[in-house]
Amino acid sequence: MNSTFNWGVIGPGKIARQFAADLALIPGARLHAVASRESSRAQAFAKDFEAPFYYGNYLDILDCKDLDAIYIATPHVGHFDNTIRCLEAGIPVLCEKPLAMNFRQVELLIDTARRRNTFLMEALWTRFLPSTRFLLELIRKGEIGELVGVKADFGFRSELPPEDRIFNKALGGGALLDIGIYPVFLALLLFGKASEIKAMAKIGSTGVDEDTHILLRYPGGQLAQLHASFLADTKREAYIYGDAGTIHLHADWYQQTHLSIFGAKSELRSYPIEKKGLGYHYEAKEVMECIAAGKIESDSMSHAFSAALMLSLDSIRREIGLIYPEDE
Ligand SMILES: NC(=O)c1ccc[n+]([C@@H]2O[C@H](COP(=O)([O-])OP(=O)(O)OC[C@H]3O[C@@H](n4cnc5c(N)ncnc54)[C@H](OP(=O)(O)O)[C@@H]3O)[C@@H](O)[C@H]2O)c1
Repeated sequence: MNSTFNWGVIGPGKIARQFAADLALIPGARLHAVASRESSRAQAFAKDFEAPFYYGNYLDILDCKDLDAIYIATPHVGHFDNTIRCLEAGIPVLCEKPLAMNFRQVELLIDTARRRNTFLMEALWTRFLPSTRFLLELIRKGEIGELVGVKADFGFRSELPPEDRIFNKALGGGALLDIGIYPVFLALLLFGKASEIKAMAKIGSTGVDEDTHILLRYPGGQLAQLHASFLADTKREAYIYGDAGTIHLHADWYQQTHLSIFGAKSELRSYPIEKKGLGYHYEAKEVMECIAAGKIESDSMSHAFSAALMLSLDSIRREIGLIYPEDE
């Protein structure tokens, strides 16, 4: 690794801008190169974040010298192709969620990372926030006893047009893959693989789910109740129930800076949690540390975890009858 860690970005859109801004919080990290489908957009992004190299397509960046990792932030359908090209070129990848469109694609990506001995991680930033680490520590210490279940939602009323990536089926749109993935991630983190999955959704005019309710049962008897919506502003809170208390992850729970514990017999305890910047530097730092240690996957967001997450999403999609062209 160079003394500085050189990041590349493919797909310089809204989230890439936030990610690039947060790199300033990591000593040694810098934006080295950016690739857009349009040269002028790459140039503007490179100027804003002082990157020395920019490219007007997604292929030429693969030949850029001294890249230590590429962050992929295109719409969902671009994740698989862009990630596999980087891995084949031996370039480590941090790819936005969901890692690909279905389990078959995720398996292929993991196989490629292993064959090329090249780092791969899904950019599920919530996993690396101080709040999530603190939450897991509270549970491990038995603060709420044995876990009983979880309830989590992520919903906002979207006025975006039907062609926007979140509604556009050809771009992998839909509430489940875009935001439902966060509650599904939380349930997987707490309970592992579900033994039973039920789901219902409202499929909108563009053919993707706009409002999705999910129930999961776990081998230990725990239950999860999850909700994702583009139709309504939900509370965006999560509750983790234990037999000795409940943890409340305050809104927005997936980027929270405040959690509390309450129970019939226990006082309410409140924990403000520090979060620096926008919160994307935590996942970037994880990538840098893993690569420095010669690893091809993160222990916290492992290949197996991403595969299990996608298996859950595939199962939920089967329940709601949502098929993408990539599934054919
Ligand atoms: N972690 C988080 O908090 C978070 C938040 C929001 C989104 N995300 C994820 O980040 C990814 C990108 O989301 P975003 O909201 O940043 O998306 P966006 O701004 O709509 O698009 C990102 C970029 O993708 C490129 N792109 C490639 N093919 C495209 C196509 N056919 N149509 C439109 N754009 C295309 C465009 O850049 P060029 O044309 O310049 O190449 C565009 O600027 C998604 O996977 C999403 O799930 C994560």
